[in-house]
Amino acid sequence: MTAPKPLIAGNWKMNGLRASLAEARAIAEGARTAKGRVAICPPALLIPLMCEMLSGTNVLVGGQDAHWEAAGAFTGDVSAQMLKDAGAQLVILGHSERRAAYRETDAIVARKVQAALAAGLEPIVCVGETLDQRNAGDALAVVTEQVRASLPPELAGQAFSVAYEPVWAIGTGLTPTTAEIEQMHRQVRATLTTMFGAASETVPILYGGSVKPPNAAGILHAAEVGGALVGGASLKAEDFLGIVNAL
Ligand code: PGA
Repeated sequence: MTAPKPLIAGNWKMNGLRASLAEARAIAEGARTAKGRVAICPPALLIPLMCEMLSGTNVLVGGQDAHWEAAGAFTGDVSAQMLKDAGAQLVILGHSERRAAYRETDAIVARKVQAALAAGLEPIVCVGETLDQRNAGDALAVVTEQVRASLPPELAGQAFSVAYEPVWAIGTGLTPTTAEIEQMHRQVRATLTTMFGAASETVPILYGGSVKPPNAAGILHAAEVGGALVGGASLKAEDFLGIVNAL
């Protein structure tokens, strides 16, 4: 089996002004010897500037969301084609904050994935259960269904990753146990194999939710963990590099 090339992606969420580009520069400097791929997903407005600044480095730039249409009357939205045009290479889709605050369903996420592929972007598709769902014993079933319904057939043979982010672990300092992470990642891997066949063994399954330098090595070396999607700790170069260097 070919091990997926790990990906550490920073999700800056709605944080970052032009002054924050200095952190991205420091990340690129420190990531020169990274053992995997490294990406920063800043607010959309910073993408062109960040792409320019990071050109020639090994740090990729991604968006945090994209509309399912390439263009049209969708006030305030940004399309995958626009992200690509601005220089992005990846895009986070279906983050739980968007699923919760903007009622993005699995079907909407799947359409966004199709739009990202059509634009030539590599999607990072997020899934994850709420605390109520975990406490009810439904975590595996909920995440399996999200994977099944959020990943369209067009992903077969394409570069993409899945990020398992338990909603209750995002921004809370809480994390699942290693055993819980491994159980979920094995389940996601099995679902990907059912959907896309053995070739999908190279699809990295990222873990996200309160990844910090002190817990990064334990999480990144767990079975079937192919990297991390990092929120808060990606905003400071020192913290983010602490995670990158734990690979
Ligand atoms: P966190 O966020 O690292 O701040 O918990 C992760 C995410 O939302 O992707």
